[in-house]
Amino acid sequence: MLVSAKKMLRDAKAGHYAVGQFNINNLEWTKAILQTAEEMKSPVILGVSEGAGKYMCGFKTVAAMVDAMVDSLGITVPVALHLDHGTYEGSYKCIEAGFSSIMFDGSHYPIEENIAKTKELVAVCESKGLSLEAEVGAIGGEEDGVIGGGEVADPDECKRIADLGVTMLAAGIGNIHGKYPANWQGLRFDVLEKISKTVGDDMPLVLHGGTGIPADQIKRAISLGVSKINVNTECQLAFAAATRKYIEEGKDLVGKGFDPRKLLAPGVEAIKATVREKIELFGSANKA
Ligand code: 13P
Repeated sequence: MLVSAKKMLRDAKAGHYAVGQFNINNLEWTKAILQTAEEMKSPVILGVSEGAGKYMCGFKTVAAMVDAMVDSLGITVPVALHLDHGTYEGSYKCIEAGFSSIMFDGSHYPIEENIAKTKELVAVCESKGLSLEAEVGAIGGEEDGVIGGGEVADPDECKRIADLGVTMLAAGIGNIHGKYPANWQGLRFDVLEKISKTVGDDMPLVLHGGTGIPADQIKRAISLGVSKINVNTECQLAFAAATRKYIEEGKDLVGKGFDPRKLLAPGVEAIKATVREKIELFGSANKA
């Protein structure tokens, strides 16, 4: 059964670790992440962008697949199915489709409009027992067509959104979706510290753009109140590299090496290795 992310994030905040959100693209991705979380006894959040939802034939298909897979694989760790960077309309579609957690990304709206729409969604999610993530200060880079300017969040605006009763808050602190450029200055811990103090101890903070952030910065972010870390690109890079290797070595040409179950297996193993490494780093192993 899918669960909201409320309890897992409250526990993570209190226990000074973070729960990973790993974005899914298809059945192989979903299975690899669920099996790794189960193996490591870690709670897990499956992220679905609107683009990935469309690719997988719509949010209803995704919810049905994930729900059935959790059951068929005998997954016992808490699993939340979470909309990633949802629009206002997309948020309602996912609520209807059976997602257990929603991110409404109103960071591109003027702050008053972001507040009004987030407030409305807090009430809807609350009435249905779902968790809600809000965002202040757009994350830089591009994810599935969602382009952010990379603004650093204003702590007072964070406080206003946090006080609406959201479950978790994503705040721009110099993080970027996708690969980090060579001249990246690192996370703005001065801003994170201010946000953390302003919103208070009970608000789990979310770090987007988890791909490529050095381990010491991840640990410092967790120590300053980050309780959820999103990873997408890193699994994609690992999958692509392993698949490339298999084909470049000509393994698809030997025997039945072209069988998709064989062809995709190294990529799946690479996703599992990435997820395993992140769960270790985030400290959520054996917390389920
Ligand atoms: P990366 O693709 O940089 O890992 O970011 C993922 C993310 O933040 C999803 O919202």
